[in-house]
Amino acid sequence: MAKKKLSVIDLQKMKEKKEQVVWITAYDFITAQLAEQAGMDMILVGDSLGMCIYGYDGTIPVTMEQCIYHCEAVRRAAPNTFVIGDMPFGSYQISTEEAVSNAIRFHKEANVDAVKLEGGQRVAEVVRAIADSGMLVMGHLGLTPQSSNALGGFKAQGRTAETAMAVVEDARIIYEAGAFSILIEAVPPEVTKIIRDEMPIPIYSIGAGIHADGQVMIVSDLVGHFQAFTPKFVKRYGNVAGEMSKSFESYINEVKEGQFPGEEHAYRMIDGELPKLMELLKK
Ligand code: KIV
Repeated sequence: MAKKKLSVIDLQKMKEKKEQVVWITAYDFITAQLAEQAGMDMILVGDSLGMCIYGYDGTIPVTMEQCIYHCEAVRRAAPNTFVIGDMPFGSYQISTEEAVSNAIRFHKEANVDAVKLEGGQRVAEVVRAIADSGMLVMGHLGLTPQSSNALGGFKAQGRTAETAMAVVEDARIIYEAGAFSILIEAVPPEVTKIIRDEMPIPIYSIGAGIHADGQVMIVSDLVGHFQAFTPKFVKRYGNVAGEMSKSFESYINEVKEGQFPGEEHAYRMIDGELPKLMELLKK
């Protein structure tokens, strides 16, 4: 039986039933197809694609075109999964009109189910405008990688009472502005719990502990593909990079040593055609 795509109502009910929502990022067709086949609840086409696909050292250079292009591939692969498009830096900061217009592009061109954007108070008006236009918008608080320069790096947030209170207040503002859910990144679990218990909407965690309505992980960390650095909150469930390196080394060795390709990898001429070819070559 085909997997049923979750709706915003299902996500809300899962919070009420204390059922965890499990999601990952994905950027390409094959990964998204495997995620859907495995039964993933949601897929985020994160702007982390800047690091995981394009080799940038952060998310700031990522463009709308790149995000839409990868959302399209993911949507084709996972028609029955709730897909979220991540709004890249610069796509919602210039004006509310431009933000709504970019959120519309994600929906029209890539058929996403929702968009996500980073920030609290300063993006409340944008969240409201997108929600008022009939689209689902997820907030993203705590460590917000697009503002890593302003935060002084990729650092955990909300570790003091005052900064924790700022995250709680931002969550209230983003909820009031109309977000259907909020992702909290790299914040102590106690703070996430306060927000999760207070908010009627789903609160998801990446590196923000277990007291959330669900967890997301960056696929390249989860499967052991991304090697540049590993945040504290990552658990590797596989060693894709190791497997790939082993395969590449074996391939190089076998070709150099004349072991590949073997007989079994070669096409055969149709019976009786080789002598005819030899005759043709003599003419
Ligand atoms: O871009 C991304 O992958 C994210 C993660 C923090 C989930 O926003």
